[in-house]
Amino acid sequence: MCESNSKPIKLIAAACRNLGIGLKGCLPWKLPNEYKYFINNIISVNQPGKKNLIILGRKSFESFEDGYLPLPNCIIALLSKNECVLPLHAHYICRNEEEVLKLSITPPLCEEIETIWILGGVETYRSMMQHPWCEEIYLTRIQADYECDTFFPEINEDVFKLMDRYPGVPEEIQEEKGITYKFNVYKKEQTINSQ
Ligand SMILES: NC(=O)c1ccc[n+]([C@@H]2O[C@H](COP(=O)([O-])OP(=O)(O)OC[C@H]3O[C@@H](n4cnc5c(N)ncnc54)[C@H](OP(=O)(O)O)[C@@H]3O)[C@@H](O)[C@H]2O)c1
Repeated sequence: MCESNSKPIKLIAAACRNLGIGLKGCLPWKLPNEYKYFINNIISVNQPGKKNLIILGRKSFESFEDGYLPLPNCIIALLSKNECVLPLHAHYICRNEEEVLKLSITPPLCEEIETIWILGGVETYRSMMQHPWCEEIYLTRIQADYECDTFFPEINEDVFKLMDRYPGVPEEIQEEKGITYKFNVYKKEQTINSQ
């Protein structure tokens, strides 16, 4: 039996000025410290022995930077309608979002999973930010223009509020290779007081 029939969902992405997130299946930029911030968030767990469920589309999985897989404390579920062979370092292939969320609340994973992190792509971000379990959006805003063919969906700011500060998230503007960026966190309004 599992204690809870829902898990907190968090989205994480980095976007440039026009909300671009990808180009030709890759990230449009190379910002190693920003990438480390992303990795550190998704591998962090509060309770010893717990893991995070990482959900991402096939192309986003293929765009993972070399050397970061396998991810400690993480169970990776890939979304694909066609892929049948489990790629190295992925744990599950699911055919749709409903199937993957059901995994998280069904034994044995429900005992183990602390947080569900959504790592893209566009349609997965779009549908998951509307899901009732979705609580937070971690969006690094890169203050530069890049050519992109993939864009982060619009955030409904009536639902998600940009936090002035957030525990564990540096507040100051970051700079790397002459590019500045800010780590933003949007939190669903009804969960703000439960922080
Ligand atoms: N900047 C960032 O933070 C960030 C984050 C993530 C991704 N990206 C970039 O975004 C691009 C990839 O994103 P994308 O939106 O083009 O692709 P994607 O969603 O990662 O991958 C698309 C594929 O995933 C599968 N898929 C997606 N949603 C599904 C669903 N609901 N059910 C079943 N299968 C599903 C399908 O695979 P099949 O074709 O196998 O059926 C689909 O063709 C890359 O350029 C990547 O670098 C950037």
